[in-house]
Amino acid sequence: MNPQQIRDAEKKYLVQTYARPPFVLTRGEGVYVYDADGNKYLDVAAGIAVNALGYNEPGLVKAMQDAAAGLLHTSNLFYTEPQVVLAQALVEKSFADKVFFANTGTEAVEGALKFARKYHQERGDAQRKNFVAFRGSFHGRTMGALAATDSEKYQGPFRPLMPGVTFANFNDLDSARAAITAETAAVIIEPVQGEGGVYPTSDAFLRGLRQVCDERGALLIFDEIQCGMGRTGKLWGHEWSGVTPDVMTIAKPLAGGLPIGAILTTDAVASAVHVGEHGTTFGGGAFITAVALHVFNRVSDPAFLAHVNEMGNYLMERVSEINSPHIQEVRGRGLMIGVELDIDAGKVREQGYKHGVLLIQARDKVVRFVPPLIFQKAHVDELIEKFAQVLAEMV
Ligand SMILES: Cc1ncc(COP(=O)(O)O)c(C=O)c1O
Repeated sequence: MNPQQIRDAEKKYLVQTYARPPFVLTRGEGVYVYDADGNKYLDVAAGIAVNALGYNEPGLVKAMQDAAAGLLHTSNLFYTEPQVVLAQALVEKSFADKVFFANTGTEAVEGALKFARKYHQERGDAQRKNFVAFRGSFHGRTMGALAATDSEKYQGPFRPLMPGVTFANFNDLDSARAAITAETAAVIIEPVQGEGGVYPTSDAFLRGLRQVCDERGALLIFDEIQCGMGRTGKLWGHEWSGVTPDVMTIAKPLAGGLPIGAILTTDAVASAVHVGEHGTTFGGGAFITAVALHVFNRVSDPAFLAHVNEMGNYLMERVSEINSPHIQEVRGRGLMIGVELDIDAGKVREQGYKHGVLLIQARDKVVRFVPPLIFQKAHVDELIEKFAQVLAEMV
């Protein structure tokens, strides 16, 4: 099919939930993607903070080829080695004792909410069914995760959602304290808010939140689906604060571009969930976990994380040098940076395409930089040059 035929067929055959730019992507190499007309784009979106190792990465391709010749899928009715090995690797490099594998981020969040309720039920505290989330949050699109997502646009058409979610103000401990009650099963928070506009939590706030949760008997869930797995320059976004959660959800980059999600948790929570009480056909399959192990081993290497840190600092420094009246604020950590503008970020995104750069936004006025974690200084320089040019062209 040529690009026009693809666009026409997309309109005809797909539910129209996405507004896509006109070009058709056909291949990727490193941190660049190419369209059907041969145009080259610097990828600062990475499939929405997913493709940590970029495109056509030889090690990742080999891991997929090797895994493809293996079991592929057997369901969770049987033991397989890759699932166990990946779980062990995740446990050894995190606060967690146990892992449950899902297929997407929203599904990991859904499971985390269920685990929290089950934990309290098991302890004879069944009235703890409610959750506290935060203004600006994004946790996914299923009925539970969506209930904890602070967006009228996403929630509105689909009510009734899971009841019992209260929203506190982000980075505001008094507001959180007022929201957490004897009926709160868990508090869920992104250590760096992604979709909401790239807002890092303050270290003091996370520490305070941990303390209030402990005092009130609520579990603390960190949603690291976007900010985890090296994105901020540490393996886990919460490491900057020194605070650990009871439950953590991860997904996006874990298998380098293939769908996977995971719930990491303590023995205390894991031991409340028994055989048959939660499950998934595909979660933790042999193929995906073998591939994810390769990605995890790469990303969790201290030298790799040091590189992300260095590139994040360099990117932050270079963005801050751009002299544009449209830039209101630059926020973020590592290679997760938001540039707050005084103009529509969608228009900037579109103009970016003309300059060969794939940008994404977070809410209306924030351009979000979440490139592959293998970004080099030369890529940062190219991004800055193009972004500055785009801003200069905006009226
Ligand atoms: C913090 C956070 N949680 C949950 C999700 C949902 O993940 P998925 O789109 O894989 O369902 C996202 C996706 O953007 C996210 O950023």
